[in-house]
Amino acid sequence: MTNEELLEAAAEAATRSYAPYSSFRVGAAVLAADGTVYTGANVENAAYGSSVCAEASAISAAVSAGVRKIDVVAAVCLDGEFCSPCGNCRQIMQEFFVETVVMHGPDGAPDVLPLSDLLPMSFGPEALG
Ligand code: THU
Repeated sequence: MTNEELLEAAAEAATRSYAPYSSFRVGAAVLAADGTVYTGANVENAAYGSSVCAEASAISAAVSAGVRKIDVVAAVCLDGEFCSPCGNCRQIMQEFFVETVVMHGPDGAPDVLPLSDLLPMSFGPEALG
């Protein structure tokens, strides 16, 4: 599964976004360590704080299927040019040892970043022994 293919899967998932409040549709695709791909979209709520981001949604799908190690997360937004994962999603990625985050950079080309660049000096499961 290439990064381009993951971005395509994320874009497809974004078409199923439920975003009536922000009209900002986001999709995510995660590549589990066993090679399986799981997708998710943002799911908003009238109580805004109860909304779920696309990345959290895709990671929840993977973890609910039994995955405990995710290698790559790709995120695509259909209604904006740049879709960098929010801080809460970065922390959720850290829990499942995500190594790489893929998104469309400002020039439209895939941007591939280590999670450690997006979340330096992170707090993770290892801290709790
Ligand atoms: N959103 C995501 O799904 N992922 C991100 O990385 C950033 C923001 C969603 C949350 C909300 O539904 C909408 O985008 C606007 O913030």
